[in-house]
Amino acid sequence: MSNAISQRSSVRAYKATDVEEDKLKKVLEAARLSPSASNRQNWKFIVVRNKETKKKLAKAAFGQFFIGGAPVVIVACGTESKAMLGCGQPTHTVDVSIACAYMILQAYELGLGTCWIGAFEEGETKKILNIPEHVRVVAMTPLGYPNQPPSKKIRKSLDQIVCYEKYG
Ligand SMILES: Cc1cc2nc3c(=O)[nH]c(=O)nc-3n(C[C@H](O)[C@H](O)[C@H](O)COP(=O)(O)O)c2cc1C
Repeated sequence: MSNAISQRSSVRAYKATDVEEDKLKKVLEAARLSPSASNRQNWKFIVVRNKETKKKLAKAAFGQFFIGGAPVVIVACGTESKAMLGCGQPTHTVDVSIACAYMILQAYELGLGTCWIGAFEEGETKKILNIPEHVRVVAMTPLGYPNQPPSKKIRKSLDQIVCYEKYG
């Protein structure tokens, strides 16, 4: 089992230490290399380091102020929001979520913490970052060195979430 999968946990307190440019690049590369439907790669990742902007993003995330405490915030957007997958799911939601998962795991391997943020006002976030109307904001994550011990993983057992051959 990969360490990142078994050991990573959400980080909600960050050291002031900056994220090195080469580490940030590796995290972003993880998004770039992630799979997407028909390999369309209809996404954009906004890297925010500006203090005031981070504070505004934290406010848009219903006052989750720890977001502003990280040296970097990455905001993940889908640039083509109309396409649907054959299974009926919105393509951009799935594609951008996969890219975010890749970034989060890569960040862990570099000693960096992240916290998937799904609770935010999209309209506010778009205003803050000048994101065009047709673009959707799927997630954001703070990125920085953790200033908290890893938290315990609480998960259902395999028995509870897996069944074989038929749903049951
Ligand atoms: C789609 C999604 C949305 C989430 N939104 C938030 C959020 O807005 N704020 C937050 O603090 N954590 C958020 N989380 C983090 C989850 O609470 C966390 O991943 C979960 O409790 C499991 O804990 P772990 O990440 O430490 O393993 C979100 C996670 C996912 C996958």
